[in-house]
Amino acid sequence: METVETDVLVVGSGPAGAATALALSTYGVPNVMVTRYGSLADTPRAHITNQRTMEVLRDLGVEDQVTAQATPQPLMGNTVFCTSLAGEELGRLRSWGNDPLVQAAHELASPSRLCDMPQHLMEPVLVNAAVSRGTALRFHTEYLSHEQSDDCVTALVEDRLRGDTYRVRARYLVGADGGRSRVVENAGLPTVGRMGVAGSLNIVFEADLTHLTAHRPSTLYWVLAPGATVGGIGAGLVRCVRPWTEWMVVWGYDLEAGPPDLTEEFARSVVHRLLGDDTIPVRITSTSAWTVNHLYAESYADRRVLCAGDAVHRHPPSNGLGSNTSIQDAYNLAWKLKLVLDGTAAPALLDTYSAERAPVGRQIVERANRSIGETAPVFEALGVLATSDTEQMWRNVDARKAATPEGAKQRQGLREAIAAKVYEFNAHGVEMNQRYVSDAIVPDGTPDPGFGRDPELYHQPSTRPGAKLPHAWVVRGRERLSTLDLGGHGRFTLFTGIGGDCWEEAAEAARKALGVEIVTVSIGPGQEYEDPYGDWARLREIGDCGALLTRPDNHIGFRHPEMSPHAGELLIGALRKILGHG
Ligand code: FDA
Repeated sequence: METVETDVLVVGSGPAGAATALALSTYGVPNVMVTRYGSLADTPRAHITNQRTMEVLRDLGVEDQVTAQATPQPLMGNTVFCTSLAGEELGRLRSWGNDPLVQAAHELASPSRLCDMPQHLMEPVLVNAAVSRGTALRFHTEYLSHEQSDDCVTALVEDRLRGDTYRVRARYLVGADGGRSRVVENAGLPTVGRMGVAGSLNIVFEADLTHLTAHRPSTLYWVLAPGATVGGIGAGLVRCVRPWTEWMVVWGYDLEAGPPDLTEEFARSVVHRLLGDDTIPVRITSTSAWTVNHLYAESYADRRVLCAGDAVHRHPPSNGLGSNTSIQDAYNLAWKLKLVLDGTAAPALLDTYSAERAPVGRQIVERANRSIGETAPVFEALGVLATSDTEQMWRNVDARKAATPEGAKQRQGLREAIAAKVYEFNAHGVEMNQRYVSDAIVPDGTPDPGFGRDPELYHQPSTRPGAKLPHAWVVRGRERLSTLDLGGHGRFTLFTGIGGDCWEEAAEAARKALGVEIVTVSIGPGQEYEDPYGDWARLREIGDCGALLTRPDNHIGFRHPEMSPHAGELLIGALRKILGHG
């Protein structure tokens, strides 16, 4: 039987697999990506692309391509609650960083803007870049099984065009094969939760809805539709794919009864019901059924098999965290694989992948599922949960217009229930606040500062080891760069400032002692980079002559508040720990 050799076999070409392949190829690691089908995602699926993900794409050199195709943030900003798109509006929530206060927080937090990039557009950007940088992509190739030895993992795959099987032998296998992951199953990774919590249908369609949407631009229009059961709450969702002509409806179905027959007539009737105007021409382009899941893996790895994306965290689309978390998993994993494969790091570095990402996966699975439940108060406030009689429901909805104390109370309740949806539609902290604790992070002995404000809503930058390097605009001559642009690029970066010469020497010593690529960045007046706004000085939490060491994923691995006569020793010790050598 034919055997293909590579360093890393990536199973799956969705956001997790494609981003893994892209990062590996960017770092020069040979890899083969296999995918079961003959094409990439052909429906919009995931779309919200948050700032942390855009930072990853920026570092991997594809941010501009994504921005060029994505719907920009200002057109995403009004989550509308209505009885139908043509019907009554019940309220709006400023979303996805479009509340002026949250917008400021977005501007301050990152050089990158949140945007709406449907998955069928995102995957080609990632895959094209991966392939152009060296990834060997095999379509129509299905992973079947694997076995591991001390120095390699051998997968059995089926060429679905030829109908035969062959082996791929790799040093590592990345299971990015989605929500029904066979890799996770074969690797026996422990999971918590369950699949199939609720049933959903996606209906993708074309219709010019400019007159119903352009004056309240949004990614999401929630329609109160008694009879539908998205997450059991009686609502349908009209999601913008391309303003304002390409759309997707999400509509619930009863899991016990199974998905309805997805005929074009059925799909059109659902769409027209949510639009509230049967005269609008609609062209259905696809339909699919999927389930809401609530499941996460407690460990992402079994020796040489490491899993990422929906394979290890399965949850509903609420908060738009699916592909974001998948791409961020890949970014955490790829540099570790590179350094272990080229011998710079010990295999123990790979243990930190699961230690760092599994808590994030669990958090987002729980947040996304909680967000579904938090829509119920909106419908409760409207009085639609109090009765099963549809006509009574509509009378209850109308009661909010009455000039009575009950009417006033209902109006107040509705405003509060819609405002509380901020945890789904403006949860900047959920998107940004990942702080890692693992053996690839060297504690500096300072107490955990925790969060001054609600950590789900508000981003709180920190340079404490484990946090992501804070963004600040700095300049080099006429060029403006983010501090995040100075780090990343698959290498370690040591940040210091005036008087930090001992750290620059320490970095040189570390390069020689450990063979690790590490660049030094000095920020301050007369240094290579200047901090004209003083933002960096306010954010860095160390003195001018202190040091911050970022890992290739721009998370801080080590910090020291000032100069030190033992700088070399301290830095080499920290790097040895991060690299799994001690
Ligand atoms: P993903 O499922 O994207 O990719 C898995 C890859 O593995 C695919 O390339 C597949 O072909 C491949 N594969 C699977 N088994 C294989 C095997 N045995 N051998 C080889 N290849 C194999 N999210 C959201 O936020 N909003 C939304 O509206 C939706 N809607 C939605 C609809 C549908 C129909 C689906 C399936 C999913 C969604 N999602 C979603 C979820 C979102 O798409 C998801 O979170 C990300 O795609 C996860 O990315 P992954 O790369 O982990 O898996």
